[in-house]
Amino acid sequence: MDFDPPFQQTYKTLLPELGKGDKAFAVEEYELPSINLSHLLSPNQNEREKCIDEIVRAASTWGFFQVVNHGISDEVLKNMNYEEKKVFHQPFEKKVQKNFLGLSPDSYRWGNPKATSLKQLSWSEAFHICMEDLSGMNESKTLRFTMEKFAKTARGLAKTLAEILADNLGMIKTGTYFQENCPPNSSYIRMNRYPPCPYSSSKLVCGLIPHTDSDFLSVVFQDHVGGLQLLKDGKWIAVKPNPNALVINIGDLFQALSNGVYKSIRHRVIATEVERFSVAYFYCPSNDAIIESCGEEPAVYKQFTFGEYKIQNEKDVEDIGDKIG
Ligand code: SIN
Ligand code: FE2
Repeated sequence: MDFDPPFQQTYKTLLPELGKGDKAFAVEEYELPSINLSHLLSPNQNEREKCIDEIVRAASTWGFFQVVNHGISDEVLKNMNYEEKKVFHQPFEKKVQKNFLGLSPDSYRWGNPKATSLKQLSWSEAFHICMEDLSGMNESKTLRFTMEKFAKTARGLAKTLAEILADNLGMIKTGTYFQENCPPNSSYIRMNRYPPCPYSSSKLVCGLIPHTDSDFLSVVFQDHVGGLQLLKDGKWIAVKPNPNALVINIGDLFQALSNGVYKSIRHRVIATEVERFSVAYFYCPSNDAIIESCGEEPAVYKQFTFGEYKIQNEKDVEDIGDKIG
């Protein structure tokens, strides 16, 4: 269906450079560590502690894990997938229109319009939606309500996991840190669509180019198609999709806060011939939040604010072009 790409000059100029593919993205598939979060509420202390241990171990070794019994109902996830499809399947001309769905004009993106080489080019489209924009999304009430429900539960889940992880570091202010520094409006949601890609066998085209996330942690709901890959011990591996679980990954801010104990892992999505959808909630602080390494070891990262980090990040994008979000 949607072989009509990107329209932007960038894509038109770069795509003719593509050669024949070699399926370089075909890598081994692994199941992420799977954690049953209902154990956090168990009356049995051992069971609760074991669950906390699993979260800490997965964040320190993999930087990625999946959670089941996470609190977001099957109905909300089903509706989210349905609403997402409905939005993305609208004509391109509508999606780029100012005020589409009541969103700000730069919410919609096709890949990376700033790409200057094939290495930076992503075969995907996305809506970046700040929490404060949600209330203006009156064009589709069902989309708005579904997103509100998704965001509210994802936020609670992100905060619970963040507090468990910070507590384990012996962070003195865990009880108030996330409450004070991560107000609801500082986080955002990204809806992603990976259209069928006619160049999917080329090693030069990604659905989403390799990157790390610029937040404390991300909560990702993906469909059954698969395509998410991560760098484990220097090797790319594919994540086995499980639409009943949510994928959690540690972002750059937690890596710094934990002085490198928790790993912000480079990941990417490959382009495929099959359409794929995902929704991610990025748990972020406000711009003036201070990120300072905690723990006993000498700090590897010097203290910075999220605002400073974002400015630096922008520069890095221009230099190496591998940051998303
Ligand atoms: C995904 O689509 O599975 C991941 C998106 C992301 O890396 O933010
Ligand atoms: Fe990501």
